[in-house]
Amino acid sequence: MHIIGTVIGAGAVTTAYARELYFKWHPAEMHKRGSLPVITWLLNIGFALIIISGMGLFGRDPNMLTNNPGFILKLVLVGLLLANHILINTWLRSKKETFTTLSTISDYFSLLGWYAIIIISVYI
Ligand code: HEM
Repeated sequence: MHIIGTVIGAGAVTTAYARELYFKWHPAEMHKRGSLPVITWLLNIGFALIIISGMGLFGRDPNMLTNNPGFILKLVLVGLLLANHILINTWLRSKKETFTTLSTISDYFSLLGWYAIIIISVYI
């Protein structure tokens, strides 16, 4: 379940990035862009699966994991990624034009954060 959530989440952010690139390279198509709420829903589902299954995995060896700096770093990054996801979907998306720098940082963190967490998790 943890890996299914990971694939859904990383797949969704990668698809969103590919879509942004498409419209950047084909500006004439921009009027067809619309919104794609399925990306947000895939991320909601991915986070839910990952957090529920993560707690189960954590229960296997809590002492080792709480003393592991890699795992603590992973949890901090997961917290930031989730906070960023909520920020984008509740507030930032409608104000993209006003807060351009914040929006760019947030978009790249949303993409690269997933891959950073996957890489850290493999080496824990
Ligand atoms: C975006 C969020 C997350 C991603 C992408 C992610 C990804 C992964 C991946 C790919 C593995 C497999 C590593 C391997 O077997 O080589 C893993 C293992 C694990 N994850 Fe996560 N995870 C996330 C969030 C969480 C959370 C929130 C928790 C705890 C509540 C958690 C707890 C664990 C534990 C305990 C393991 C097993 C570590 C071990 O003993 O080797 N993960 N995670």
